[in-house]
Amino acid sequence: MKNIDSSTHVKGQSLYLDDIPLVAGTLFGAAFISPVAHGHIEQLYLAEAMQQPGVVRIFTHKDITGENQIGGIIPDEPLLAEHEVDFCGMPIAFVVATSDHAARAAVRKIKAAIEPLPVITDPRVAHAQGELIVPPRTFKLGAPELAWEHCEYVVEGSADTNGQEHLYIETQCAYAIPQENGELKIYSSTQSPTASQRTAARVLGVPMHQVEVDVIRLGGGFGGKEDQANAWVALCALAAYHLGKPVKYVLDRLEDMQMTGKRHPYSSDFKIGLDKDLNILAYEVDFYQNAGAAADLSPAIMERTLFHTTSTYFIPNVRATAYSCRTHLPPNTAFRGFGGPQAKFVMESAIAKVAEELGIDACVIQKKNLNKTGDEFPFGQKAVSEAHACWHKAESLYNVETLRQEVQRFNASNTLLKKGLSFMPICFGISFTNTSMNQARALVHVYYDGSVKVSTGAVEMGQGVNTKMLQVAAQVFSINPAKVRMQTTSTNRIANTSPSAASATADLNGKAVQLACLAIVERLKQVAAQELQAPETAIELKNEQVLLHGEETALDWKKLVTAAFLKRVSLSEHAHYATPEVHFDKKTEKGHPFAYHVYGTAITVATVDCVRGTYSVDAVKVVHDFGASMNPTIDRGQIEGGIVQGIGWMTLEELLYDQAGRLRSNTLSTYKIPDIYSVPQEIAIDALDTDTDNLAILRSKAVGEPPFMYGIGTYFALRNAIKAFNPASPLAFDAPLTPEKVLLGLYPPTGTGATNLHETSLSRVATS
Ligand code: MTE
Ligand code: HPA
Ligand code: MOS
Repeated sequence: MKNIDSSTHVKGQSLYLDDIPLVAGTLFGAAFISPVAHGHIEQLYLAEAMQQPGVVRIFTHKDITGENQIGGIIPDEPLLAEHEVDFCGMPIAFVVATSDHAARAAVRKIKAAIEPLPVITDPRVAHAQGELIVPPRTFKLGAPELAWEHCEYVVEGSADTNGQEHLYIETQCAYAIPQENGELKIYSSTQSPTASQRTAARVLGVPMHQVEVDVIRLGGGFGGKEDQANAWVALCALAAYHLGKPVKYVLDRLEDMQMTGKRHPYSSDFKIGLDKDLNILAYEVDFYQNAGAAADLSPAIMERTLFHTTSTYFIPNVRATAYSCRTHLPPNTAFRGFGGPQAKFVMESAIAKVAEELGIDACVIQKKNLNKTGDEFPFGQKAVSEAHACWHKAESLYNVETLRQEVQRFNASNTLLKKGLSFMPICFGISFTNTSMNQARALVHVYYDGSVKVSTGAVEMGQGVNTKMLQVAAQVFSINPAKVRMQTTSTNRIANTSPSAASATADLNGKAVQLACLAIVERLKQVAAQELQAPETAIELKNEQVLLHGEETALDWKKLVTAAFLKRVSLSEHAHYATPEVHFDKKTEKGHPFAYHVYGTAITVATVDCVRGTYSVDAVKVVHDFGASMNPTIDRGQIEGGIVQGIGWMTLEELLYDQAGRLRSNTLSTYKIPDIYSVPQEIAIDALDTDTDNLAILRSKAVGEPPFMYGIGTYFALRNAIKAFNPASPLAFDAPLTPEKVLLGLYPPTGTGATNLHETSLSRVATS
């Protein structure tokens, strides 16, 4: 089934927040933000801005009637700065005017006298100064301290990954419309309608029932709207509530890039030990997470990093410690993979470093140490593993031996172009790591003409979740999908939702839809039994027909629904689902936090231009563990998108804050995202179809985040190509591997370990 949004998307008819027709009298907001990363606000000058044409009012923290607080996990983030600013881009005042243009013009007239304070941008510096968001946490398995002496090879190193701008096409936005009795209806582009509702209610000092948050769809979220959509909702709510007028705020791209947090940069130290047969015996790692100026989701992201310490491998002795470090950057936040990719990069760097020192191919170590069913993760859960199955299928399906020979032959016969090949196995845990968040609800109405409307807590952000929800309903009822329509995601219909995140949206909400539909089917079967004077067990609903002992009857779906209505049987159901089995004990750091893991293996071949430092990805070939995909077209789209986004993080996207904490890469001319020229020339996706039971909806495993991590393979393919040109290249494990860094890796400046070979390469280039 194709995505239900595809037709309106391509015709430009899909509605996003900014397409909602304006209510008469709508006002427009714009934020005045801190121009410095850390400082004390001495004076705020609003008078000139107030005189600007069209300005209605300027809100500051003094106008907040409830709590000036938007921190979700930890209450450490004011909505509007009070006396101190903690990052460049922190909102200080909110101007409301009769037009968008007037509001922004007035913002430019606001002045603030801010006494600067010292700025920290580096997580290791923050750590050294004791600036931690939460106490550090350590996951442990076996006895790593005792294991080192049994190791033949021990290697230490460090690895760094930079942040990443979400660059959803639709920027952050909110539109609050006053209703009667002090109630507000707020349209938002949020992954978490309930968190936005709660934040607005908290800031206004009103109960949650006074605020409805309604979401049509998002033009992308990628985690950037899991927590960070709340501020705009709260600002618009504040203004609309106090002015009694609708208020809308749509950030422009520059505002969005400056004001919002991004993927967390990490700086990590590792130590890895192997026995003489290349079994990894011990692994120790310290993760320094750059959290930014407030907690936001950092503690949860730090936790998911720890859960992915060993990636797809089994290591018997592990110690992993993570530090969430407070710096003066915008609070960093959720981004596809939620801390998992950062851990995987460190693990793969450790393996690559040992392999390079031993002069062997990393894949020998990778393959040897893949986890198996029954192996214990450092957090106590036992693996149900498809790691070997994916790896082996990829090896044979894509003729890896031939690929490898082609790369070798190419490298032997080319001096200025070099190819590299890498394997990237993934293993990603599905469930919110916070057990209580693994719940969802759905509301299903069957109208008496036989058509169906479904509401869930799921937010459509391009990942196709609404199509999947509709498929579940159509399948349980066994009716034409055209009979089913999805509703917007409203806190009035579905309460207390978890964010659409953790790749778990389809599982959680889909199971709730399934339960709701099954309950209605149960009642419909009772009605059919009465109508046909037959036992309920003999009745089946199939292809809009009512079957008795497998034979068609005079009853069809529509007649049955009408009959049920006339008998005053309920045709609506509100169902609740909570993932069974999951639990975790933070005191012992052990438990069973994930419903299941998603596996896969990517083989990447990339080519480096050793004159220019530029590169291209020849192919990414993936065997992916779908379980049994309920929508191969959508799932394939998720994998392609994830791979390209992962490649962007690993290669092109260079987020740059200066020492003063100002974002320098704040436009699309200074921040390069993947385009049509940077996508792999070939993406092959093949399924590892399995028939083992799992907790996924219709056994169709979660697919939103896991493929992002295939992109890490591109870093290592490029690294291998650079090493093919200059084996002594002192290239650090420092992503993104931009063309600039590639060039420095090919021709290291003297004094950084440049060798004769490097000089030979240089002269080779010079002569050719
Ligand atoms: N795909 C699109 N097109 N747009 C998005 O914003 N977000 C990703 C992923 N795929 C995203 C996407 C992230 S971060 C997550 S957690 C999942 O989708 C969320 O949706 P799911 O739980 O339905 O997979
Ligand atoms: N994943 C994604 N988002 C989240 C999580 C998680 O585990 N926990 C809280 N928000
Ligand atoms: Mo996704 S980072 O869990 O929104």
